[in-house]
Amino acid sequence: MSAPPLPESARWLPAETFSGQVAVVTGGGTGLGLQISRGLAALGATVVVASRDPAHHAALREEAATAGWRVESEAFDVREASAVDELARRVLERHGEVDLLVNNAAGNFVCPAERLSTNAWRAVLGIVLDGTFYASRAFGKAMIAAQRGTILNVVATYAWTGMPGVVHSASAKAGVLAMTKTLAAEWARFGVRVNAIAPGPFESQGAAQNLWPDEATRERIEQGIPLGRFATTDEVAAQCLHLCAPVSDYVTGECLVVDGGGSLGRPFWEAGTRLKRKREGDAS
Ligand code: HXC
Ligand code: NAP
Repeated sequence: MSAPPLPESARWLPAETFSGQVAVVTGGGTGLGLQISRGLAALGATVVVASRDPAHHAALREEAATAGWRVESEAFDVREASAVDELARRVLERHGEVDLLVNNAAGNFVCPAERLSTNAWRAVLGIVLDGTFYASRAFGKAMIAAQRGTILNVVATYAWTGMPGVVHSASAKAGVLAMTKTLAAEWARFGVRVNAIAPGPFESQGAAQNLWPDEATRERIEQGIPLGRFATTDEVAAQCLHLCAPVSDYVTGECLVVDGGGSLGRPFWEAGTRLKRKREGDAS
């Protein structure tokens, strides 16, 4: 039987790039997390996808069974420190090691800051900031013991640009970016790399539902991107695999922006404008 075709995100890497490695991907059953999980599994890793809803794991489990990939799934809520510790305990019991952790799980919606309830703030901060720390701590301990490991955190460019309507997510992602650099500096001596990726908008059910619920909003966002379109999840996942792969062994504390130029300065003038210099005596 011939090998199944590699997912697009993984085609440019050597076939056994992650062979023998154990990877944990939070939120690994949908959207970007799903594409990262598919890429890692297709390139030889044993992948544990972990999120709240087991229904989100079913499609990947089925695909893996057909393709011969090693994929496991666990239901947990990343906001609960004890559930994260328990997940780490189970994964380590089964595999004895964890080589890769992708902190991809997130929650988001658009709400003016002055109307955001305490629960709403806590829900997003809990998933993004607390969850990333709990998972990094739990799996980081095992990586430190093994003197090797790679952590990748998924952030967004509004962590440093800011953006109206998402004060919870922007604040949480900014915290995750600071965590990325801090842990990179703190754990480099243990052989543990920690990086981040900051994608621009790409289609996922969660983002479409919560951030661009209608076509007009989506089009307006797209018009603000210099490259003129959303990323595909494959394009973003490919860069995630790049940061996890051995080719990036000397990269730590970095945040790779994959946003089609969307976070670059907004033009005062339409791109391509040429203004003539005004000379003294010219009529105004
Ligand atoms: C205002 C809202 C709200 C909304 C929920 N809340 N949605 N407030 N506007 N649209 C409030 C609720 O009223 C409640 O507060 C509190 O938030 C918790 O809501 P729950 O529904 O109980 O929370 P929970 O079931 O835990 O769900 C978490 C969630 C949800 C974050 C609210 O959206 C979720 O599960 N999201 C996962 C998928 C997702 O968001 N993916 C998008 C990723 S895109 P009260 O006070 O009423 O109790 C992304 C970056 C995009 O992250 C960057 C683009 C460039
Ligand atoms: P998504 O498909 O909605 O992914 C979010 C994932 O997080 C889901 O799989 C969800 O699974 C999981 N999750 C949510 N709450 C959780 C919790 N409490 N515990 C455990 N898992 C939880 O959205 P996406 O767009 O692919 O987002 C993936 C990452 O990219 C996120 O970090 C997001 O912030 C980032 N990002 C997205 C965009 C974009 O335009 N889409 C842009 C920039 C950055 P369950 O529902 O099963 O729990």
